[in-house]
Amino acid sequence: MTAQLINGKEKASEIYTALRDKISALPSKPKLAIILVGNDEASLIYVRNKQKAADLVGITAELFHLPENTEETELLQLIDTLNTDSQTNGVIVQLPLPDHLNTHKIINRISPLKDVDGFNPYNTGMLQNNEKPYFIAATPLGIMKLLHDVCPKLTGKNVVIIGASLIVGRPLATLLLNNECTVTVTHIHTRFIEELTRQADILIAACGVAKLVKQDWIKQGAILIDVGINRENGRICGDIDFEDVKDKASALTPVPGGVGPMTVAMLLQNTVNAYLLQNPSL
Ligand code: GUN
Repeated sequence: MTAQLINGKEKASEIYTALRDKISALPSKPKLAIILVGNDEASLIYVRNKQKAADLVGITAELFHLPENTEETELLQLIDTLNTDSQTNGVIVQLPLPDHLNTHKIINRISPLKDVDGFNPYNTGMLQNNEKPYFIAATPLGIMKLLHDVCPKLTGKNVVIIGASLIVGRPLATLLLNNECTVTVTHIHTRFIEELTRQADILIAACGVAKLVKQDWIKQGAILIDVGINRENGRICGDIDFEDVKDKASALTPVPGGVGPMTVAMLLQNTVNAYLLQNPSL
């Protein structure tokens, strides 16, 4: 293997140490409310990881696990209660939601000051305007931290992002544009995608298709960031075919152990920032 391995697990662990020190100096524990509707298998795992990591750094993570058939009004009411609860610093609603719930309506209800996922239109809009949002989505923020280590000068880089989601593709494209990159976002209707990905100095795959990106999709020496978490024959794999690209890329993230741990670390960092934002005298 010639590519440098980008170790997200190690980086996340450094962030946890710094967060633990910061939290231990606060007069009380920051609190994160996690709302989970239904029993989506992947969501249950992600939520458990968030709870475990929160516990590790000294954040109280309270899980509101609601049944699959929860009505929209009930969910909105819970968000209203958490928005006004002075003990709750951050509120997230784990996605995806069951089909009968309107995701945008629900996300939009979270107070921008507690929106530690950074999905509320106030926060995404500020990011879009290249102003300072209260919070930036955790996965894009984690990716920017990883990229900074392998590519400190982003100006002028050609970046291709596969996937235009609310959670990753869109906010990440904005962040990279704000960092003076030339950004192309591809999606399911993109034609001749390989011709675009082959131009990328940095290629980010966030489409949820196991091992989609092969050697002939990438430029020699490209930096590859894999956001995918897929299950293939009982094993976890990314959206990039690791074995196929590892001798052509200059650096790449493994799955697991790359982007995933950084997402959780950034969510917790956002929660500490929410606490500080809501306690300006500290
Ligand atoms: N589902 C997958 N990733 C995320 C995330 O970062 N936040 C939330 N709320 N749901 C998700």
